[in-house]
Amino acid sequence: MGPDMQTRVFSPDADGYDAAASALRDGGLVAFPTETVYGLGGDARNDMAVARIFEAKARPRFNPLIVHVNSISAAREFVEWPDQADILAQAFWPGPMTLVLPLKPGTGLSPLVTADLPTLAIRVPAHPVAQNLLATFGGPVAAPSANPSGRISPTTADHVLAGLNGKIAAVLDGGACEVGVESTILGLAGTPTLLRPGGLPVEAIEAALHDTLDTRGNCDPLTAPGQLASHYAPNAQVRLEATEKRTGEVLLGFGPVDADLNLSPAGDLTEATANLFRHLHSLDAMGAETIAVSPIPNHGLGRAINDRLRRAASPRS
Ligand code: TXA
Ligand code: MG
Repeated sequence: MGPDMQTRVFSPDADGYDAAASALRDGGLVAFPTETVYGLGGDARNDMAVARIFEAKARPRFNPLIVHVNSISAAREFVEWPDQADILAQAFWPGPMTLVLPLKPGTGLSPLVTADLPTLAIRVPAHPVAQNLLATFGGPVAAPSANPSGRISPTTADHVLAGLNGKIAAVLDGGACEVGVESTILGLAGTPTLLRPGGLPVEAIEAALHDTLDTRGNCDPLTAPGQLASHYAPNAQVRLEATEKRTGEVLLGFGPVDADLNLSPAGDLTEATANLFRHLHSLDAMGAETIAVSPIPNHGLGRAINDRLRRAASPRS
């Protein structure tokens, strides 16, 4: 069975932005780089476009999407805006943070975006290519990570094509993503709650809020419908906290260990985060049966790395 359509690759220049924005206006899907991972964008006000996102990813319809806008004032058109949202947005937008807030009525968003929840996940990405695309398009863009549902998130245009070639209109190639894991998601509809650790460390958020976050909701599928256990799955099995490499395994190292690939020989968590999905993609492409992974400290960005690795290691559904 051949691909359904020709996926075009656009360069991040004036022509590329115009072509990408016009594909979005036609209800097409355009993958684009953000500072975290590549997103699979569609017009958030167009039911057909949003339905195509779920279809292209084979994503369950009950798993809502993040809406991307290019400014705080644009975000405020869609959601209620408590003081805590303002503090965090002023401190960390544009950047790798998503806020879940009560959805305002009459915004014109497709109800498929929120999977009929009364809340909306929204973020202002920092990547200049994402910013330019949003400005050229001039409207809200719904975008999950640009990978087939349950697979490793893409941090290059090649990763996007490996998973979605022939299923989407285009990809804007902006090179490798700097952060390398998805945004940190915070629920602000009630007590500030960490829904997904990500590219912005919890410690930074708590410092800005002068308060601690509720981190218990993290793995509850009712508060974060997308946080299914088996996620970010490479083809290989994954074994965590590995202190040695067993027969038939490849080792994904961290710190000064003898490894097949190393997230950061110097033990730097920022570098390790940026390398995580790329190294998982590479080890998977080598056809490894089991990927053993060195222990990763569980603070700062290490929390997001460990979250993704635990999901990669959990039994497949
Ligand atoms: O960095 C990112 O966040 C990337 C880039 C493209 O922006 N996007 C991303 O989207 O990771 P996705 O769809 O792979 O993950 C979004 C997560 C899902 O787990 C979903 O369940 C959750 O956000 N989510 C969306 N709307 C929500 C809501 N109203 N309440 C709770 N969780 C929500
Ligand atoms: Mg995803």
